[in-house]
Amino acid sequence: MVKPIIIGNWKMNGLTQEADHIVSSLLAYAEKNKDLAPTVICPPFTQLYHIGKHLKNTPFELGAQDCHVAEKGAYTGNISAAMLNDIGVKYVILGHSERRSEYKESNALINQKATAAQNANILPVVCIGETKEERESGQYKEVLAEQLKGSLPEHFVGLVAYEPIWAIGTGVTATNEEIAEVILFIREKLVAQYGENGKKTLILYGGSVKPNNVKDIFATSELGGVLVGGVSLIPEDFLQLLTIAQ
Ligand code: G3H
Repeated sequence: MVKPIIIGNWKMNGLTQEADHIVSSLLAYAEKNKDLAPTVICPPFTQLYHIGKHLKNTPFELGAQDCHVAEKGAYTGNISAAMLNDIGVKYVILGHSERRSEYKESNALINQKATAAQNANILPVVCIGETKEERESGQYKEVLAEQLKGSLPEHFVGLVAYEPIWAIGTGVTATNEEIAEVILFIREKLVAQYGENGKKTLILYGGSVKPNNVKDIFATSELGGVLVGGVSLIPEDFLQLLTIAQ
């Protein structure tokens, strides 16, 4: 059986002491547990280089939480995909709902960022998800279809993460039926757009994933893995996810 991928998104958390504590817990775990599920750690930019050095030659991969569309240039405060690749980053989360809402990131911008990531040999993890109102009004499929169509490049080599906004950091998790329905919907769209490649794209779920619900979530048909926020900062809980994923 193919093991689900687990992507830990630290968001804007992780001073050096906390980061070191999490990383040493991960490394100690990997020493004792061989054959781990694929696991990606996405710390904030300030910790990427430091953590990347510790994760080198370990089962863990390094991920970032955003990148700029350009390769380099006069873009004060930004980080390019080429810079991420330069320090060993293999994945980048793009279009997270927190960036879509706080920075008004459009589907077109996320699409450009995904292309930039692919050009730098980094796998984009493109996030889509509906609000509570969109879910309750029954509009969620239209919203998701539009996000998919607009955010994914013409040639897409990456992962898609379904993160219903109402489930992020709320403790409310989508039910298995809700996740399964959306995954099937995303799969249909991917296959319609990308043919054979669309069948292989990993589709992840994110939103209040915890040790006590992850087993049920993993049982969802066609689920490729999970995108984990809060729990990725709590080593004992995160390691439980890795154990359940094995
Ligand atoms: O990127 C991760 C998601 O936003 C989920 O966050 O696990 O804290 O709900 P959460």
